[in-house]
Amino acid sequence: MQNIQKYITENKQRFLDELIELLKIPSVSADSAFSQDVLDTAYAVKTALDNAGCDTVEICETDGYPIVYGEKLIDPKLPTILVYGHYDVQPPDPMDLWNSNPFKPVIEVTEQHPEGAIFARGACDDKGQMYMHVKALEFMVKTDQLPCNVKFMIEGEEEVGSSNLSLFVAKNREKLANDIILISDTGMIANDVPSITTGLRGLSYVEVEVTGPNRDLHSGLYGGAVANPINILAKMIASLHDGNNHITIPGFYEKVEELSKAERAEMAKAPFNLEGYKKALNIASVYGENGYTTNERNSIRPTLDVNGIWGGYTGEGAKTVIPSKAYAKISMRLVPHQDWKEITQLFKTHFESIAPDGVTVKVTPHHGGQGYVTPIDTFAFQAASKAYETTFGKKPVPQRSGGSIPIVSLFEKELGSKTILMGFGLDSDAIHSPNEHFGVWNYLKGIETIPYFYKFFTEMKGI
Ligand code: BES
Ligand code: MN
Ligand code: MN
Repeated sequence: MQNIQKYITENKQRFLDELIELLKIPSVSADSAFSQDVLDTAYAVKTALDNAGCDTVEICETDGYPIVYGEKLIDPKLPTILVYGHYDVQPPDPMDLWNSNPFKPVIEVTEQHPEGAIFARGACDDKGQMYMHVKALEFMVKTDQLPCNVKFMIEGEEEVGSSNLSLFVAKNREKLANDIILISDTGMIANDVPSITTGLRGLSYVEVEVTGPNRDLHSGLYGGAVANPINILAKMIASLHDGNNHITIPGFYEKVEELSKAERAEMAKAPFNLEGYKKALNIASVYGENGYTTNERNSIRPTLDVNGIWGGYTGEGAKTVIPSKAYAKISMRLVPHQDWKEITQLFKTHFESIAPDGVTVKVTPHHGGQGYVTPIDTFAFQAASKAYETTFGKKPVPQRSGGSIPIVSLFEKELGSKTILMGFGLDSDAIHSPNEHFGVWNYLKGIETIPYFYKFFTEMKGI
């Protein structure tokens, strides 16, 4: 890849300005108040792909937000890379915890990012990381160095479960045919410890509702004599973990892939600073399943977490009341071989069975998806590894992540394709949190590294 560093240096300001323009559009897929903005973002992505040198770019309508599909096919004999990313973002809430407006990007220096980081919702997840691919394509096309065919599929519903993308993929197998899928929507260990994500967890997301009396009651007149749905819900949730922090749902661990001692020893080699981890979160101690390290707990082990809980009176002052209803949203992160639909059913059966007399319980499943593990004995992984080695000067560490991109396992099922996850974000970049940011250095390093993946993958395929 000739002159990549020169190209980046010369175009750095424009690369930043273009991303900042994209980040100004509040493409929050979860909130219909932003629906025009989500659509506007799809068109902005189309324009960016057109300008970067795609031969054709289409806005593909779905029952939800459109998918932007672009391609540049140079020779049917050459391999084809399919780039996936998402242009939708998480809601910015809670707004008052942002130091600047989430949709008015600013660049600030941080401890992890001495060269500055762009603060905006979607900066890292995933507009910034997706846009690295657009600029990498621009470099390869403009300097006549694109070594293979490329297809882009950028969706607008990842943060709400990708339900329409599943249908689109199933209906467009031929159009999407590829030799490898390339995604930048994960992270890496540190700027001086490059890593490639080799695993994603699956997910089952449910909502529960506990109903007691048919109306809110005076907590003096009725207190002590009827079941309080919030007390009951708290008890039921507490019972879902035992003293070792194992999940108590019968059958929950049945299919969990247990790693061998050797695999765990290999994992433990990845650099990890427990003191730094605690300090960054301002916690005195980590917490989790007995018998596993922090890195194991958040990657190879399944979890159950309450994401939200509400009911009763939460306004100003005090109101003495026993509420009629209590609610919670619960996510379960799953590991290879656990089936998310099966786990959802196990949860429902168990949660209903532990409800005491005096309340009724309703479990409503939301979305979910399967986990994924990238094989590391492939050309694609070797090509990615060599690309990092070229631009970071170090071999990347394979690392399983705790997050989920459910569509990845679907790609394998529907298209028969493996996925390479080249993430350039840091855990401290605060994705889904207030003050999300993406390092300027990381953004440019991604643009620099991606073309090498194209080059090495094409060369290796040709052998
Ligand atoms: N990009 C994230 C997933 C991610 C982040 C994986 C960092 C690994 C490292 C993605 O946008 C996301 O937020 N996924 C959701 C699931 C989805 C179904 C809403 C998640 O993991 O909560
Ligand atoms: Mn994402
Ligand atoms: Mn996300």
